[in-house]
Amino acid sequence: MKLKKLKKKVAIEALKLIPYQEIIGIGTGSTISYFIKYLKNIKNKIKGVVSSSHQTTKILKKYGIKIFKLNEINFLSLYIDSADEINKNMEMIKGGGAALTREKIIASAAQKFICIIDETKQVNVLGKFPLPVEVIPMAYKFVKKQLKKLGGEVKKRKNLITDNHNYILDISNLFILNPKYIEKKINNIPGVVSVGIFSQRKPDILLIGKKNKIKVINRNKID
Ligand code: A5P
Repeated sequence: MKLKKLKKKVAIEALKLIPYQEIIGIGTGSTISYFIKYLKNIKNKIKGVVSSSHQTTKILKKYGIKIFKLNEINFLSLYIDSADEINKNMEMIKGGGAALTREKIIASAAQKFICIIDETKQVNVLGKFPLPVEVIPMAYKFVKKQLKKLGGEVKKRKNLITDNHNYILDISNLFILNPKYIEKKINNIPGVVSVGIFSQRKPDILLIGKKNKIKVINRNKID
C-alpha cells in the first residue's frame, strides 16, 4: 500500500477520537494535512483549533475552521500530530516541517496527545531522520559547534526561516540511544530554542497505519 494511502487511513481513524464541542490543537505536515481535510466535514462539531504553524493555519482558514490562539484559551483537551520517527518507548523525532517549537508547546499544553503515523515512522533507534534544532539566528554558528561535539553532522537548513523567525540546524548520523539525555543536553545550549526530540512529552495514544489495519497503542499500558 502506498504511503499516501496509509497516511489517509490513519487520519480518518483519528477523526473518531475527536471530542465534540471542544478546542483541539493540530500539528503540521502531510499526515496532518489529510487529517484537516477530513476534519472539515465535522468542523461544526468542534469549537475550533489551536494551530502549530502558518502552514496548518493556511489550510484551516481555507476550510473555514475557526482558529484560536493558545493564549486565548484556558484548557486544551487534545493535541493531534504526526512524527518523523518514533521508538518503542514512544519517544519521537519531530520537526521535519520546521514547526517543532510550536508543536512541542501545544503538545505540552494539551491534556491528551494523539500521534498518527504510518508504519514507516517506527524505528528501533532514533536518529536516522536528521534531528532538527531550532536556533536563534545570531547564535547559530556557536550552537553548530556545540552540536558537532555530539558526534553527528550538522547542517543549517537552506532558505528556511521558522514561524518564530529562527533557523533550523539538522543533525544527521546521530544515533540517539538516550533521547531524554540528548533532549536535555541540546536544550541547555544557549541559543537553542528547542530540539525535535520529544521524550518528555510523549503521545498518550499512538495510531499506526499499517497495510491491513490500524494499530492503537495506549501509553498508559506500556509505561
Ligand atoms: C512538522 O514539523 C513535523 O513535526 C511533522 O509532524 C512530521 O514531520 C511528520 O510529517 P509528515 O506527516 O509529513 O510525515
